[in-house]
Amino acid sequence: MAGPLPRHLLPDTASIGDEGRLGVGGCDLVTLADELGTPLFVYDEEHLRARCREARAAFGEGVAYGSKAFLCKAMAKLVDDEGLYLDVATGGELHVALAAGFPPERLVLHGNNKSSDELKAALAAGVGRIVVDSFDEIERLERLDGRPRVLVRVTPGVEAHTHEYVRTGQADSKFGFGVACGAAAKAVDWLRGSPAVDLVGVHAHIGSQIFLLSSFVKAVEVIAEFFVPLGLPELCLGGGLGVPYVEGEEAPSIAEWAGVLRGACRDAGVADGTRVTVEPGRAIVAAAGLTLYRVGTIKVLPDVRTYVSVDGGMSDNPRPVLYGSGYEAFLPRAAAAERPSTVTVVGKHCESGDFIVRDAHVPGDIAVGDVLCTPVTGAYGHSMASNYNKVPRPAVVFVRDGEARVVVRRETYEDLLRLDT
Ligand code: LLP
Repeated sequence: MAGPLPRHLLPDTASIGDEGRLGVGGCDLVTLADELGTPLFVYDEEHLRARCREARAAFGEGVAYGSKAFLCKAMAKLVDDEGLYLDVATGGELHVALAAGFPPERLVLHGNNKSSDELKAALAAGVGRIVVDSFDEIERLERLDGRPRVLVRVTPGVEAHTHEYVRTGQADSKFGFGVACGAAAKAVDWLRGSPAVDLVGVHAHIGSQIFLLSSFVKAVEVIAEFFVPLGLPELCLGGGLGVPYVEGEEAPSIAEWAGVLRGACRDAGVADGTRVTVEPGRAIVAAAGLTLYRVGTIKVLPDVRTYVSVDGGMSDNPRPVLYGSGYEAFLPRAAAAERPSTVTVVGKHCESGDFIVRDAHVPGDIAVGDVLCTPVTGAYGHSMASNYNKVPRPAVVFVRDGEARVVVRRETYEDLLRLDT
């Protein structure tokens, strides 16, 4: 028997109003679903801004938002408003950021396989920094005009405590230059001697959804040993701070993460005045967002399980399928209700693996037609959404002070044909 959904999994401005209905940003969720349709991604704009401010206050100039977690023009504008930098990892993310009017000098371009065209576009736009990831990329940069500021991405050889698909700091990684094998030192020598670039720092990202701050401390120890003798002004420690998704999980705040990283840098001899930054994605957006679905069918398999099918699935949230990620579910019409029934929430795709929540706790009176909500879906949901089974991708709405602003419209069936020739 599970109690009501824990408050800390909801966006900052969530509040339970008349008759137990949940509002976010002053907007009633059931009404949003009725008016804008489902599935629907809803983001609490105050929550997004608060996390950006927390990151800015904790790290100062240079802290970036990792846009792969969720990006659209409105998000890029919000990040710009809040004074953060923006990490883009492909030409496509760069394009969206520039289309939103994001100041190029605050863009940081990542990628383990940047094409010459992507590099050219970044140079033409005047991006503030490029994080160099391979010897081939250095050669490519040397053939192009411009002298960008660059950081060199290193892999410290630290195995972060997280799912293996989202670990990036270990020696066996497609990202960056290994410290232990000497590749990182070779890259620094080359970049320092190259007229094509201005080497300003070192970058490392050890993985994502990391709860243990000790993983970051270990990485700092290794990176600092490499970084300090170089006497460079910037050290970027990547993203990766985890967030709670389900009851019982807890994660450090951005401010706590900053405190530990700063302490580890000090202990490791990183000079005061070094620009120590990070680029969180998930920690900014995950809990700000939630997904609203409509329950379409309920199938009770006696002594087996009850399947509650909703109108989305692995196309709007592939994380359960990809990583076995867990989520909670609740009914916004009864947000404070006990959740005594255990059901399996599935999508509408043609695969048995199309789970959204394998063992979801829901109120006993859940019924066809209900709006069902999965919280903490603001990161890597919309950004990894697909058109599998030709299901149109959901709309995205930002809510604030009682106003709902559609920032990405729902795809239509016509959109599904727009690339066919
Ligand atoms: N910086 C770099 C270089 C990255 O590769 C990433 C994420 C970030 C920053 C932001 O990391 P965050 O703070 O969001 O953990 N699709 C997976 C996560 C993949 C993370 C990829 N890189 C998921 O849904 O869990």
